[in-house]
Amino acid sequence: MAEKVTILDIQQKKEADHPITMLTAYDYLGGLLVDRAGIDMILVGDSLGMVMLGLESTVPVTMGEMLHHCRAVARGAQRAFLVGDMPFMSYQADPAEAIRNAGRFLKEGSMHAVKLEGGQEVTATISAIVTAGIPVMGHIGLTPQSVSKLGGYRVQGKQAGGARRLLQDALALEAAGCFSIVLEAVPAPVAAAISRRLRIPTIGIGAGPGCDGQVLVYHDLLGLFDRFTPKFVKQYAALNQTIHEAFTTFRQEVEDGTFPAPEHCYEMDETELRNFLEEIEA
Ligand code: KIV
Repeated sequence: MAEKVTILDIQQKKEADHPITMLTAYDYLGGLLVDRAGIDMILVGDSLGMVMLGLESTVPVTMGEMLHHCRAVARGAQRAFLVGDMPFMSYQADPAEAIRNAGRFLKEGSMHAVKLEGGQEVTATISAIVTAGIPVMGHIGLTPQSVSKLGGYRVQGKQAGGARRLLQDALALEAAGCFSIVLEAVPAPVAAAISRRLRIPTIGIGAGPGCDGQVLVYHDLLGLFDRFTPKFVKQYAALNQTIHEAFTTFRQEVEDGTFPAPEHCYEMDETELRNFLEEIEA
């Protein structure tokens, strides 16, 4: 089995200027497939609320739902560094509750680290979690849990003032002990400048090539989720279409009698069959 990726490997990649890869996954098979592709980190993102549970946003996602999916991913992933996403209101109200909930990701969800959203307003909570021995990944820019406050899913840091605040937030998260920071929906030159200023790696999503690594949502990359596709998504496959074709072909073949064919059926010894039929038809 390949060596497990550690937090030190992630930091070394930044220092060696070697791009870091991260994808989301939400279940056993997803964890297995992402891990097999040699991806460095797997994020069990609260985006599962939208792509797995059909919710309108990530806001209603619960600790119970997150832990359920984390355990499944961890059973499939052998090598990748696993990050569990702390859901809305699992860390905002009280640092002691945040430590307990972060601990549950490691103890009950088999994760190696947690991620939480926010800038300077969450640094005290991050320091408390890190002091408890739990690695934390930060997340700034477009933070989906605050979508109501941000007024929608929109690019952040487009004006100089906003870009400056993002840099201050990133520096504060680094000082609080984050091992890495997600930059979401940030202009590429701003993300590149922040990445150059930080010692810890940035992982971009809609933040351009100047980040130290890139993350995409599993369903977006595979072309599975077509409710909406942000500009920053590259679809590496069109599985939605492939699956639709497979399901409709199955329906047609069952309806016209071409499935199941002889090769899909189990044989039976002829004498046994005759005995059986004579018995039940007598
Ligand atoms: O929940 C998630 O999938 C995320 C990524 C978009 C970084 O937070």
